Amino acid sequence: MISAETGLTTTKAPFIEEAKSNGELYIQQPYNLYSEDNQIAWRRLYDRILPRWRKYANAKFLEGIDKLALDPHNIPRLEDINKFLEPLSGFSAKAVSGYVPAYLFFDCLRTRAFPTTITIRESNTLDYLPEPDIFHDVAGHVPMHTDRVFADVLVRFGEVAQTAAKMVQSISDEKEQLRRVESIIKAMARFFWFTIEFGLMREGNHLRVYGSGILSSYGELEYSIESPDVQRYPFQLDWIINQYFEIDHYQPLLFIVDSFDHLFSEVDVLEKWMLEGRLNNVSPGEPLVNEEDLKSFLQAGE
Ligand SMILES: [Fe+2]
Repeated sequence: MISAETGLTTTKAPFIEEAKSNGELYIQQPYNLYSEDNQIAWRRLYDRILPRWRKYANAKFLEGIDKLALDPHNIPRLEDINKFLEPLSGFSAKAVSGYVPAYLFFDCLRTRAFPTTITIRESNTLDYLPEPDIFHDVAGHVPMHTDRVFADVLVRFGEVAQTAAKMVQSISDEKEQLRRVESIIKAMARFFWFTIEFGLMREGNHLRVYGSGILSSYGELEYSIESPDVQRYPFQLDWIINQYFEIDHYQPLLFIVDSFDHLFSEVDVLEKWMLEGRLNNVSPGEPLVNEEDLKSFLQAGE
């Protein structure tokens, strides 16, 4: 019997295991299943990070927190979030049971839906967690989606994925098709990583965080801006698409955009380069592209 005692704790939620075993990717958020420990985790994460958001987050994020009326004391209900979010940018948070293969993920963005994890980390391990959770997705990503230009960047990125799928599906040599789609997915994942997840931006004379991987990390918020061990460079597309990254430690290399309009224009360039074949041979290394990601691009639109 699944009850609030079992909770919706990351990697330990029977409700999620059941959804996965039934092949259900898109799910409802069964709010009554959150345990007291789950609510405590949200509260602790929120309380701890708020002063660092005020210090290091970009202005649009801080406005987003207010516009969504995020509750510091309780895990948000996605339907409440969406009531505020949809009129602002057309985006909505859509509950998922786990990993969304690359093309499906990007295609959701194109239709202004954001695949959202509903589980939460344990209250005694607030710091590091390799899996996304609702704090990362809702407190890290969703406030950014209240900004129209930023939201349009995500949609544009979804369109680039669609262009990519059409392009690779037209290649008849199967081996070459696989090789190219892997390279293109790698390039897109790196772009996404160094911007949407770990991007910095210039705001007047300051650097501010807009990447959600940083925005949801108490430790990395300060580290990303203050640490002398981080290399921070102006956004450079040719570098980014060829740069590997590792997910299990604070990022040693970050890239800075001037504005979200700037970011939007770089997604245009990414698509242009892709059509010119400049993403077909990016440097090997992380991230790994799995079978499901490859298939999702090759079977897109079927
Ligand atoms: Fe994320």
